[in-house]
Amino acid sequence: MSGANDEGRVVVLLGSPGVGKGTQGVRLGRDLDWAHVSTGDLLRAALKAGTPLGLEAKKYMDAGELVPDDVIVDLVAEHLAAMPAERGVIFDGFPRTVPQAEALDDVLAAAGRRVDRVCLLEAPEEVLVKRISGRRSSPGGRVYNIHFDPPKRDGLCDDTGEPLIHRADDHPDTVRTRLAVYHELTAPLVGFYDAKGLLARVNGEGGIHEVYASLRAAVGE
Ligand code: AP5
Repeated sequence: MSGANDEGRVVVLLGSPGVGKGTQGVRLGRDLDWAHVSTGDLLRAALKAGTPLGLEAKKYMDAGELVPDDVIVDLVAEHLAAMPAERGVIFDGFPRTVPQAEALDDVLAAAGRRVDRVCLLEAPEEVLVKRISGRRSSPGGRVYNIHFDPPKRDGLCDDTGEPLIHRADDHPDTVRTRLAVYHELTAPLVGFYDAKGLLARVNGEGGIHEVYASLRAAVGE
């Protein structure tokens, strides 16, 4: 259930590919009854629907590169505009560059809102690579792991029974590019948000439940 002071709160989950943003973001959204907004999921849905945006994004995603900032900012602004302003929001995978973070501040300010916490999930690179290699995703966005968090029935989503997929960008070469892109373009957001006094560091190395408990404490709900 949502808490009494969470009206309109905006929380950003920041961290490397594979650190657990999606896993934790889905749980947090469900437990707090906030919107979980994953730009990766929005892009994959656009691709599945065959929209021009999805087809344009595909070439960047397949290469492990970032989709251009203006495309992402428009996508998020449109998504936010369709949502009640009093609903809490958890961003996962957005913002991912300093220009995206500045644009998010502008979009939120226009609606009388602001980012009020940024949770940086951290884990060593060898942990990230192992997690990504075992990841399987349901078309609806639920994430599993064949090593750490398997579905009840092999290869099928517990919620919908749909076949799980191995993401096209989870192959080792693409993962290496995604990690390098994170260090170059996304890591500067740590300093950006720390300077604003919004950053909370969360140890993402433990088990899923342990990380979730630390994250809840960092979110402050
Ligand atoms: P996106 O979908 O956002 O991918 P990502 O940031 O690379 O993050 P991941 O989804 O790989 O990892 P995660 O941190 O969510 O980890 P997860 O919870 O799945 O982006 C994909 C692409 O879209 C980008 O490369 C880019 O092209 C484009 N894009 C998206 N947003 C963009 C933006 N804002 N700007 C520009 N381009 C954008 O966990 C990983 C695995 O580990 C899972 O199997 C999970 O079960 C397991 N696991 C999680 N936590 C634990 C734990 N504590 N213990 C054990 N296993 C765990």
